[in-house]
Amino acid sequence: MRIGILGTGMVGKAIGTKLVQLGHEVKMGSRTANNEKAAEWVKATGAHASQGTFSDAAAFGEMLFNCTSGMASLDALRSAGEKNLNGKVLVDVSNALDFSKGMPPSLSVCNTDSLAEQIQRTFPNAKVVKALNTMNCNLMVNPSLVPGEHDVFLCGNDAGAKIKVKELLKSFGWKMPIDLGDLTGARGMEMILPLWLRLMGAYQSPNFNFNIVR
Ligand SMILES: NC(=O)c1ccc[n+]([C@@H]2O[C@H](COP(=O)([O-])OP(=O)(O)OC[C@H]3O[C@@H](n4cnc5c(N)ncnc54)[C@H](OP(=O)(O)O)[C@@H]3O)[C@@H](O)[C@H]2O)c1
Repeated sequence: MRIGILGTGMVGKAIGTKLVQLGHEVKMGSRTANNEKAAEWVKATGAHASQGTFSDAAAFGEMLFNCTSGMASLDALRSAGEKNLNGKVLVDVSNALDFSKGMPPSLSVCNTDSLAEQIQRTFPNAKVVKALNTMNCNLMVNPSLVPGEHDVFLCGNDAGAKIKVKELLKSFGWKMPIDLGDLTGARGMEMILPLWLRLMGAYQSPNFNFNIVR
C-alpha cells in the first residue's frame, strides 16, 4: 500500500521504517520538501521511502498517519490539504501536549473533547482512527520490546477504517487491538498521557505498557 506519514520526528521515523520493512511504500511529509531529518530517513530506509511536503505525503498516501506535534497537528493537516485527506483513513498518533508552561506538560484539550475529535470535525470527510498514542514509538512497531501481554487501543467513527487499522496493527505484532468504540474514545486515550508521563519518570525508561486484565 502507499502510505503517507505526516511528521519527521521519532514517531514518523519508527512507523515509516516499519511500514517499509513490511513492504509498503512510504512518503514522509514535513513543512518543507527537503527536510533534513526526512532526507536522513529516506537515505537509511531505501527505495520504498521518499519525502516531500505535508501535502505531497498526503496526496501520495492511500492511508495516512498523523505523527506531528499535537499542538500543531491541525495546522500541519491544513497544509496537507483537505482534498488530500478526504475519504482516506487518517491514523492519529498525536498527543496534544502543551509544554508552554514547562514540565510536566498539560493537555490542550481533554474531558469533553480530544485532539482526534478536533481533527475529525475540521476534516469531516477523513476517516480518523486514533491509535498507538498511549505508548513509546519503538514499542508501537515492536510490541515484543516489553515482555508478556499488553495492549494497544483504537477508536474511530468509521467501522471499515478501523478494520484496516486493526489489520495494520496486527502486522506490527499486536495480536488483539482493543476497540474503544467511536472517536469519543480518544478522550480517554489522550488523557492517559499524564499517567504515562508519571510512569516514565518512575521507571526512567519508556519500555512499559498498559495491560487490561479482566
Ligand atoms: N515520541 C513518542 O514516542 C510518542 C509516543 C506517542 C505519541 N507521540 C505523539 O506523536 C506525535 C509526534 O511525536 P514526535 O516526537 O515524533 O515528533 P514531534 O517533535 O512532536 O513533531 C514533529 C513534527 O511536527 C511538525 N511540526 C512542529 N511544529 C509545527 C508547526 N508549527 N506547524 C506544522 N507542523 C509542525 C514538524 O514539522 P517539520 O517536519 O516541518 O519539522 C514535525 O514533522 C506527537 O503528537 C507526540 O505527542 C509521541
